[in-house]
Amino acid sequence: METVTICPAIPGDFEALARLYEEFHEFHVRGIPVRLRSLGETSEADDQQLFARLAEIVAGAGSTLFVARIHDGIVGLAEVYIREDDPAPGIIPRRYGYLQSLMVAEPYRRDGIGTALLGAAEDWARENGATEVQTDIWEFAGGPLLFYEKHDYRTFKRRLAKTLVGALLAAPW
Ligand SMILES: CC(C)(COP(=O)(O)OP(=O)(O)OC[C@H]1O[C@@H](n2cnc3c(N)ncnc32)[C@H](O)[C@@H]1OP(=O)(O)O)[C@@H](O)C(=O)NCCC(=O)NCCS
Repeated sequence: METVTICPAIPGDFEALARLYEEFHEFHVRGIPVRLRSLGETSEADDQQLFARLAEIVAGAGSTLFVARIHDGIVGLAEVYIREDDPAPGIIPRRYGYLQSLMVAEPYRRDGIGTALLGAAEDWARENGATEVQTDIWEFAGGPLLFYEKHDYRTFKRRLAKTLVGALLAAPW
């Protein structure tokens, strides 16, 4: 395998990151076509909006964006935040790292890069006072559940849905 370096993103990475985020979304569209739709071609304005958002993530005290870098570009990303449960009498509050997005470009998968990005996100969360890392995933064949389970992530809450008989015919989409 080529040498891969995991490091915080810099503005010069944003163009490559925009393409990776597109791949991330389209991967999920293929996995859950009944709930997600392709964004199609992105415009220059879309890119500029994303670049501004990425600059905020990189500069923010409670957020970071790691990239997996090889000699000629960026092949993976991990976007992570520090979050805390809102105080409430019936809740045991936690400070946790929230992994918003984790992505490795398709040709570079199954080579340990996802594991390295996840490790960087976990280390960063620990250094910022978190006691755990949480994430939300879509479940579908070929999705990331097995990857996370391999890294000791376990479900602690589920969202259930049942399609109502006849309702889809009347739905506006
Ligand atoms: C999930 C993802 C980040 C994993 O990255 P990766 O670089 O391929 O992961 P690694 O090579 O570090 O995999 C480590 C182990 O996880 C498991 N694993 C990884 N991908 C898997 C998959 N698709 N199915 C089953 N197990 C998987 C394997 O046990 C693997 O070890 P092995 O290759 O020795 O069997 C990558 O597949 C990806 O970008 N997928 C699309 C986007 C996505 O689903 N992101 C996560 C949701 S936010």
